[in-house]
Amino acid sequence: MFKVDTYTPTRVVFGPGRLEDLATVALPGKKALVCVTEDGLMKKLGIQDRVLALLEKNGVGAVVYDGICPNPTRKSVMEAAKIAKENGCDFTLGLGGGSSIDTAKAAAVMMVNPGDLWDYAYAGTGGRKEIKVAAPVVTVSTTAGTGTETDPYCVVTNEDTGEKLDFAVDAIFPAISIIDPELMVSLPHSLTVYQGFDALFHAAECYISNEHNNRLVDLYARDSVETVAKWLPVVSEDGSNLEARVNMSYAANILSGYTQALINTTSHHIIAQTIGGLFPGVAHGASLIFIAEAYYKKVCAHRPELLDELGAMMGVAADPANPGKAYVDALVDLMKKTGVYRLPMSQYGIKPEDFQKIVDVTVDGTGIDFEAYKLTKEDLLDILKESYC
Ligand SMILES: [Fe+2]
Repeated sequence: MFKVDTYTPTRVVFGPGRLEDLATVALPGKKALVCVTEDGLMKKLGIQDRVLALLEKNGVGAVVYDGICPNPTRKSVMEAAKIAKENGCDFTLGLGGGSSIDTAKAAAVMMVNPGDLWDYAYAGTGGRKEIKVAAPVVTVSTTAGTGTETDPYCVVTNEDTGEKLDFAVDAIFPAISIIDPELMVSLPHSLTVYQGFDALFHAAECYISNEHNNRLVDLYARDSVETVAKWLPVVSEDGSNLEARVNMSYAANILSGYTQALINTTSHHIIAQTIGGLFPGVAHGASLIFIAEAYYKKVCAHRPELLDELGAMMGVAADPANPGKAYVDALVDLMKKTGVYRLPMSQYGIKPEDFQKIVDVTVDGTGIDFEAYKLTKEDLLDILKESYC
């Protein structure tokens, strides 16, 4: 028999043109802290002004916090929460990609809890205090990658220690997520592909972690993996293809978010997150791509049947002589089709002498105890060495 566990309490408003619904949807407060990145991109694209006008139409006030950098930091979260409190905001609105939305989620925690964000971090130097409540969060997504729109996670870097940690708590499930793929057509090629692989790995890693236990995880993961395999090459070729953007957004922002809401990803994500914490200039999707081929070659022997199933979802039949290799071949094929095969770590300033630190922070600082298979520090070093170029 099988079992089901599910909890995905976010109201999802999805489809081309649905940003306009922001003027009429029942919002969870009277004044929003609108969180955007420091590069001014949302302003330049005209999206920020549209959002502010729609909020006004809905009878809701807003204050903009525009101090967010990629791989958002503890310091900017605390700053955002302070501004929200000073201005009487009662909810946050993350506008943009994962950095803006995760800052909105973490700031929502610190708007209603005492102390510093790191008092509540669950690992490393964190204080491990429990998060019971947060202010409501609304999201407006302009990228298709993290799944943060529909999951209970935010990822924040502590700039003092280099730790990049998840905060996972039901209180930060967004109340409402507006996902309008029309806002994604102008995303640059590299970001589109990196985020597409991020979405793929969320679903595939959750599929592996799940080991067929929770039937809903398999349902969401299968639809996501098949959708990304079909549409990522299309959107990589032509970013203005709205049908491809709609499908990639559906996979990333809804399906892969749901898989992560129900189960953890694997050490593939934990290693990649460590790389992002130590080298903040590396895009999250890029750090996943760096190590993907070597990582899945290494884990082939542990759960080959699950990897063969993932390969089949991506159109590569299993080879009984090489169990698990179908998924490795499918990944390599997709990376080649989208121009990111053998993406060089060296171009981001990562050197072989950094590998031991990456491994130590991953295993000792963050921990990799909760997955379907165990990898040793030596395994992780091998993966990094084989991936390096
Ligand atoms: Fe991710």
